[in-house]
Amino acid sequence: MSKITTARLLAMKQARQKIAMITAYDATFATLFEQAGVHAILIGDSLGMVLQGEDSTLKVTVADIAYHTRCVANGSEKAMIVADMPFMSYSNPEQACTSAAELMRAGAHMVKLEGGDWLTETVTQLTRQGIPVCGHLGLTPQSVHVFGGFKLQGRDTEQADQIKRHARALEAAGIQLLVLECVPSQLATDISQALSIPVIGIGAGPDTDGQVLVMQDALGLTSGYVPKFTKNFLADNGNVAAAIEAYVAEVADGRFPGPEHSFN
Ligand code: KIV
Ligand code: NA
Repeated sequence: MSKITTARLLAMKQARQKIAMITAYDATFATLFEQAGVHAILIGDSLGMVLQGEDSTLKVTVADIAYHTRCVANGSEKAMIVADMPFMSYSNPEQACTSAAELMRAGAHMVKLEGGDWLTETVTQLTRQGIPVCGHLGLTPQSVHVFGGFKLQGRDTEQADQIKRHARALEAAGIQLLVLECVPSQLATDISQALSIPVIGIGAGPDTDGQVLVMQDALGLTSGYVPKFTKNFLADNGNVAAAIEAYVAEVADGRFPGPEHSFN
């Protein structure tokens, strides 16, 4: 596998090759996942929950993400490295540029931010400064207290149309990748077809241009509540490398996600 760039991800969408993305927070897993064929590694602010044991992502700082981005970057040679912009680190374009610069200097190739058309100016500024941006719509966990829990988004036509409008606005502003989390499969299909950029789903059905999972979920390490859209790939695959190879293969040929992992 040669180095994965934004151009390569776009070409994969155009060739209908599915993109496999997974979170990692350290060099050991980054190396292993990349060798298993993962195209993109996300340093997610999910680390607030899976590493720090918090019940949301809100306490994660830019310094936390930068530290783990450096760890991942040191273990990775080819994958696209995407770093999450944490809660309140992009409340205006200037702050976003300062936060993103720290993550890019730590080794990220792209930053991800949660939200819709109110971020268009921020997306344009970041892109102009040389920082590729990934959007994130649907269930955006930094807004958990606004949503009143981790819930499926875009359920009725009005909500779905709003998410579509936000997706188009972000694309027009310059995002080069979009994560759609916890939305009905049909909405994710519509958005993936409407946009020219690759759309990566999690709990968004089988028709997006790729999938992303939190590594702890993909390896069955999550205790307590396990989301419906995840799958334990370690259960049938003996070791971590084989499990993630199976994840990449099942994303590639459409076996994952199945209807049991999707919302209709
Ligand atoms: O923080 C994270 O891990 C994420 C993914 C679930 C998309 O944002
Ligand atoms: Na995140």
